[in-house]
Amino acid sequence: MEIPLGPAEDLRRDGCRIVAVDGRSVGVISVGEEFFAIHDRCPHMGASMCAGSVSGTLLPSAPTELVYGLDGLVIRCPWHGWEFDLRTGRALLEPERVGLRTYQVVQVGDEVVLRT
Ligand code: FES
Repeated sequence: MEIPLGPAEDLRRDGCRIVAVDGRSVGVISVGEEFFAIHDRCPHMGASMCAGSVSGTLLPSAPTELVYGLDGLVIRCPWHGWEFDLRTGRALLEPERVGLRTYQVVQVGDEVVLRT
């Protein structure tokens, strides 16, 4: 199923838009020129992921180093800070066990389409 979301420019301005898909809330998130779509309910206690922040995170590193990475690819839950990779939906802390469903988003001309 394809769901038209309107002009890419509007989605970029919104940052995150929540769309209803088969009774689920899906967050369509704009990061630079890219779009990502994830289930909008955090698997921990149900916060809206669209209310979270997108940034990078600290990567595994030596005990005396702070290494920042994945800039613009990590969404952080607004309630307790769980972090998820926007590309895969997987939680950074326990990727095998915890994650968000992801959806495909494509841009066709100036329009954005969500594929489910
Ligand atoms: S509700 Fe998302 S981390 Fe707790």
